[in-house]
Order: sequence, then structure tokens, then C-alpha cells
Amino acid sequence: MAETTYAKGLEGVIAAESEICRIDGEKGKLYYMGYSIEDLARHATFEETTYLLLYGKLPSSAELESFSRRMRASRDLDPAILEMIRKFPRDAHPMELLQSVISYLSGYVQHKIQHSATCNCRNTLHQVVQLASVVAAWQRFQEGRQYVPPRQDLSHGANFLYMLRGEEPEEYEGMVMDSCLVMHAEHGFNASTFTARVVASTLSTCYCSISAAIGSLYGSLHGGANEKAMAMVEEIGSADKAEGWVEQALAGKQKVMGMGHRVYKAKDPRADLMEEYLVELSRRKGDSTYYDILKGVEKAFRARMEEKGKPIYPNVDFFSGAVYRLLGVPTILFTPIFAIARVSGWLAHILEQRKDNRLYRPKSLYAGPEPREFVPLAQRG
Ligand SMILES: CC(C)(COP(=O)(O)OP(=O)(O)OC[C@H]1O[C@@H](n2cnc3c(N)ncnc32)[C@H](O)[C@@H]1OP(=O)(O)O)[C@@H](O)C(=O)NCCC(=O)NCCS
Repeated sequence: MAETTYAKGLEGVIAAESEICRIDGEKGKLYYMGYSIEDLARHATFEETTYLLLYGKLPSSAELESFSRRMRASRDLDPAILEMIRKFPRDAHPMELLQSVISYLSGYVQHKIQHSATCNCRNTLHQVVQLASVVAAWQRFQEGRQYVPPRQDLSHGANFLYMLRGEEPEEYEGMVMDSCLVMHAEHGFNASTFTARVVASTLSTCYCSISAAIGSLYGSLHGGANEKAMAMVEEIGSADKAEGWVEQALAGKQKVMGMGHRVYKAKDPRADLMEEYLVELSRRKGDSTYYDILKGVEKAFRARMEEKGKPIYPNVDFFSGAVYRLLGVPTILFTPIFAIARVSGWLAHILEQRKDNRLYRPKSLYAGPEPREFVPLAQRG
């Protein structure tokens, strides 16, 4: 490849073929394995979606029952993991904990299988399932409360809320949490997924690949937009201040969080459903403050951008932070929730990478000094 093909950040470079995710940014469409995100988020559970991503097809009832049973059987945390969570530095971010727990699990669960390059990681689902349990346990310990062992009769999303709160969520809340996980399960060759594939291409284990992906997601340019959108909502405080806040933000060349997308030039297809959930949760709680502020921001922002001929729409993260907040999830868990969901997509990509592997090895464009003479230490002044 000629060096003139240099693309900073690999923007626009096709790095592999993939059957997993299709994004049509112009039309605002997203598909997992050919199924639209609208259909999956409304009609499939996170477990069903995980099956789809790992096996490439929707499961039959019997397949889903057996797969769900396996996933649910992997939920409970071993005392050694609980001890690790308890002893982890108190000020560390839960994403750092997740990264460490995943590495720890690789030595602890199915160690021998994981070290084979040909292992079938679909047989061990701890690396997918336990992230939710770890995040819930971490939050409980932060609050000085006890670990809540998982329930087997709840969906992945509902069980996460149960382990977090210690009481069963309403059916609607559990469904919303599970659907949010579906909406975040996969999104093509983003930085964390690419990271997972790069590590997998060295024939490393799926645990190491996932741990690296978690590190990548932790960065503020990747996960974290919904945290910032929620911080914006809190800063604005009430809907009547939204327009003034937007004016000021744009005048100061500040980005309005949760608006716009690198890939979607039409509306992010996940944003409508997320908005629907926010409306219903607000109605159930009898408090629409977050929603009213967000709509005020959206209206003022879009009006200003349209004046400039730039139609910019909300992305999934514009509403998701407020949805999580109304589900009782603290802001620090927003990015970990992204990991809890995206781990299914990462594993799908790791398996796909292994099927037709080629070690990733791009080149860099050398911009350093010309060869120069070494000056011995004593002569360097
Ligand atoms: C995601 C993002 C980086 C995409 O930016 P982009 O690729 O430049 O998007 P576009 O090309 O559609 O932007 C067109 C114009 O609108 C501006 N714009 C886009 N999103 C904006 C936002 N949220 N706030 C203010 N201005 C924005 C861009 O700066 C650009 O202005 P310019 O023509 O003067 O350079 C940007 O929309 C953004 O920073 N959004 C907020 C952060 C966020 O929500 N990220 C999560 C994405 S899932």
C-alpha cells in the first residue's frame, strides 16, 4: 500500500470484512446481522440479541431457553471476585475495576480453554454476563451495602437493576433496561470493537481482548457522552433556561452533548425509542423535568443549526443518561453500562476475527529526524 493512503485515525479506511453490523448513516439505519435495531430493541431481549450476535441467527425457543439458562447460570460472582471488588482502590473508576476483573476471570474461569487459539468462547459466558454483576456489586459496596445475589427468573437488564437496588424493578423498568442493553450491544468498527479485534488478531484470549476493549471504551472520546448530556441537564436546571444555555454554549463554540454523530447524518435510529422510554418513565415518576430540559435544548439547538443549514439530530446518548437516572442508576455507572451491553458485540467480533484471521499491522508515516550521529553522554553538555 502506498504511503499516500495515510488516513489519520484510520478514518474512511476499510480494515476488515464483517457480517455483524450495518450502519446506513445517511438514512439513519442500524442493523445487527441484518435485523433492524428498531425490531430488536422492541421485540428481542438482550440474551436473544447476544445469541444473534454470537451465532449469526435468531434462536428458536428451545435454543433461547438453553442459552438463557447458561447465561443466567453464569451471573453469580465467586467470593474471590467479590473480595477483589471490595479491595479495589476505592477511588478507582468502575471501568478500571471491570478491566481488572475480566483479566482476573481469565485466570480463574476456564483458564485452559481460553489459552487455546481455537477455543470456542461461546461456551463460557462469564466474560459477557458477569460485567453486570460486577458493576452492581461495586455500586452496592460503594454505598456500604451487601452484595445482592442474582435472580435466575429475570432478564439480564431487570436482574442488573435488581442486583443494584436489592429489590425487584417494575416490569416496565426491567424491560427498558434490557432494551437499552440491546441498543448498545453493537455498533460496527468503533474504537473499542476495533481494539478487541486487534488484540484477537494476535491470537490472544477473548478475556484479554475484552479487557483491552474496556480500556478503550473508558476514554472520554468514546463512552461518556450520556454522562456529559446529563451534566448539561443538571447545569441547566429547568426547561425555561434551556434556550439561553444553548445560545451561550454555541456562542462559546461549545459542543452540545448528545447532538450530532460522526456516522449518522439522519436521526440516530436508537434516539426515538430512547425518547419514548424517557417520556413513559417521566410519566410514571410524575416528573418530566429532565425530559422538558432536553426537549428545550433540542428545539433551540436544532433551530440554530438549521439557520446555518446544518440539520443535526439527537443521538442515542442525548436521552439515555436521563433514562438511566430515572431507573435509579448513578451517573458513574453510565459508561460501565455501555460495557455491559457492548461486550456481546466485542465477543462477536473476536469470534469473527478468528475465523479468517490476519494480524493487524498498519504502517506509520515516519515524521521524525533524519539519521544522525550518536553523541556519547560525556560530550552532550
Ligand atoms: C459526534 C460529533 C463529534 C460529530 O461531529 P462532526 O463529524 O463534525 O459532525 P458534522 O460534520 O455533522 O457537523 C457539522 C457541523 O455541526 C457542528 N456540530 C455537530 N455537532 C454539534 C454539537 N453537538 N454541538 C455543536 N455543534 C455541533 C460541527 O462542529 C460542524 O460545524 P462546522 O461545519 O462549523 O465545522 C459531534 O456531533 C459532537 O461533538 N457531538 C457531541 C458529542 C456527542 O454527543 N458524542 C456522542 C456521539 S454517539
